[in-house]
Amino acid sequence: EEIRQNRLPLAGKHVLITSGPTHEPIDPVRYIANRSSGKQGHALAVAAYEAGARVTLVSGPVDLADPDNIDTIRVESAADMLSAVKSCLPADIAIMAAAVADWRVASEGAQKIKKDGSGKPPALGLVENPDILATVGHHESLRPKLLIGFAAETQNLIDNARSKLERKNADWIIANDVSPETGIMGGDANTVRLVSRDGVEDWPEMDKAEVARQIVARAAAALDE
Ligand code: CTP
Ligand code: CA
Repeated sequence: EEIRQNRLPLAGKHVLITSGPTHEPIDPVRYIANRSSGKQGHALAVAAYEAGARVTLVSGPVDLADPDNIDTIRVESAADMLSAVKSCLPADIAIMAAAVADWRVASEGAQKIKKDGSGKPPALGLVENPDILATVGHHESLRPKLLIGFAAETQNLIDNARSKLERKNADWIIANDVSPETGIMGGDANTVRLVSRDGVEDWPEMDKAEVARQIVARAAAALDE
């Protein structure tokens, strides 16, 4: 293990990755969710491990097995994901690939919500969730040297990615078009662009494992600079 680690590009480094969706409870039997499969985030964790890093994976609810040799923390909600991420820092690199739910219900019902017979649906008062990437990005002492976010967009991909880069104080945003016709959500392939303060790189379509290896290789090189 020691010999294996020493020769690899991320030997001795700690990489933190978030993956999957979050589930935001409405009541004991219902939740708000999204279509993230966790495939890209989990592939990143495996790629970082294969590059020699110690990897912590903070994962929302996914149908994937916890990857071998990777310290995996399973969470449900965005609030839980933020606490888990904070507890795992510091890290040399953090890659926030989770599709964090943007909103949660203001107060989770203690009992199952029942139809009241009026025919009127209950109003779900939503509040915004904490932004995990932005919280880490703006943290004075805990911000990793290299902080990478994702931006899933259905329009204005580059403009939106650039504004996320700035707003969240990330180093890179991996931008991808998740319009339904691309079939990216849940699939095995991904077409991404790497958006940094140096510009935009268009990458060809690759499977998610290869996208992960490319991101990790670039991240290792950037840490060395
Ligand atoms: N992110 C996060 N915490 C949130 C929301 C997003 O850490 N509460 C991270 C995601 O993991 C991703 C990046 O921020 O790395 C961009 O997520 P995205 O949903 O595209 O951005 P939002 O700021 O939520 O903007 P939008 O209104 O487009 O959803
Ligand atoms: Ca969002």
